Amino acid sequence: MNPSSPMSPSSPMSQQINLTVNGMTWPVAVETSRNLCSVLRTEIGLTGTKEGCDDCECGACMVLLDGQPINSCSYLAAQADGREITTVEGLADGDELHPLQRNILSAGGVQCGFCTPGMLMSAYALLDRNPEPSIEEIRIGLSGNLCRCTGYARILTAVHETAVELNGA
Ligand code: FES
Ligand code: FES
Repeated sequence: MNPSSPMSPSSPMSQQINLTVNGMTWPVAVETSRNLCSVLRTEIGLTGTKEGCDDCECGACMVLLDGQPINSCSYLAAQADGREITTVEGLADGDELHPLQRNILSAGGVQCGFCTPGMLMSAYALLDRNPEPSIEEIRIGLSGNLCRCTGYARILTAVHETAVELNGA
């Protein structure tokens, strides 16, 4: 999609906002009650962010807002006006996966994959604030993300391996 033009005309119940997502600014007209997850997926076309429980329980919708992880299902899009949003699509550098993405794949931490984008965003934020987390600290850092498939161990391993890799050890 072209970020330079609004996705839809504004209406009396809508508000014109600018969402800066993965470094690109998108002018969008949104209903004031729309959540950020829905707008990212349907107005901007970034469907990596998943909508699971829609109730702040599963973490599938996790994105970063000014570097902090938030559940985008429970965050109004209008509140993100003018702020920096990072979604899972922003992790890779062109065709090169972020080490977190590469390691979660190689560790077998992706099965159905529904939880994976949210897991990655929580892990990214964790490593940003704590570059050398213990396994227990990783477990706590990912405690807002539910996975029904993997049993978590491979995901924890992948995040720990990434921390070691990024620290050059
Ligand atoms: S969809 Fe947002 S926490 Fe589950
Ligand atoms: S891989 Fe299926 S929910 Fe986590």
